[in-house]
Amino acid sequence: MNNTIITLDGHSGCGKSTLAKSLAKELNFLYIDTGAMYRAISLFFLESNQVLKNGILSSHYEETLDLVNIDFSEPNENGESWVRLNGEIVEDRIRNIEISNLVSEVSKNTLIRTKMVLIQQSYSSISNLVMDGRDIGSVVFPNADIKFWVTASADKRAYRRWLEYKENGKNISIQEVTKNINFRDENDQNRKVSPLIKPENSIIIDNTEMSIEETFHFALNHIQNHLGK
Ligand code: DC
Repeated sequence: MNNTIITLDGHSGCGKSTLAKSLAKELNFLYIDTGAMYRAISLFFLESNQVLKNGILSSHYEETLDLVNIDFSEPNENGESWVRLNGEIVEDRIRNIEISNLVSEVSKNTLIRTKMVLIQQSYSSISNLVMDGRDIGSVVFPNADIKFWVTASADKRAYRRWLEYKENGKNISIQEVTKNINFRDENDQNRKVSPLIKPENSIIIDNTEMSIEETFHFALNHIQNHLGK
């Protein structure tokens, strides 16, 4: 029997990861955060001094791409796992504004995307999945069992991201966060390779005025109806 695949796509800061994580926990599915994979590979290029001005990669990046290994740690007792860069958990080094500014540029790259998509697809043979990102229901798993398109107003998304930074002790202005959200929306929607689009047959969740719990129950209800539970 094929594994069940649930995808969530949408703009930065719309609460996809929070929703995806809680759905995966509730359903006992594996959660894959594909944004974390693009952030981890951005960290690799940053730390190996291959990022030039404006996030452009050095001409040698192709040679090192084969040496980069991105995967996830084994889930712990709460079902949580973290992205690893060459075997090392890098979660605490990828959630900052420097990586957020770089990742849009890095994720435009066709070779990098091809590598990431193959890794993402390989997880479908291991487990039932909840996967979130920008191209999951459109490119990675166009035939997924259930696809969600998650959205919220840009102001609300910026505010939520700013709160997240603040709660993690990162001192950054709301203006800077808004600028980064707008910049990434623009880049993610207009890039040539796998632009951010609403996947065909996806269910829209606009959570501008919804709480985390309301969003969760809306999505879970839909999944349970669909899976006949
Ligand atoms: O979900 P996030 O904000 O952590 O994602 C970081 C960036 O990675 C986002 O700006 C675009 C890119 N990304 C992508 O291009 N494709 C995906 N499937 C996931 C993320």
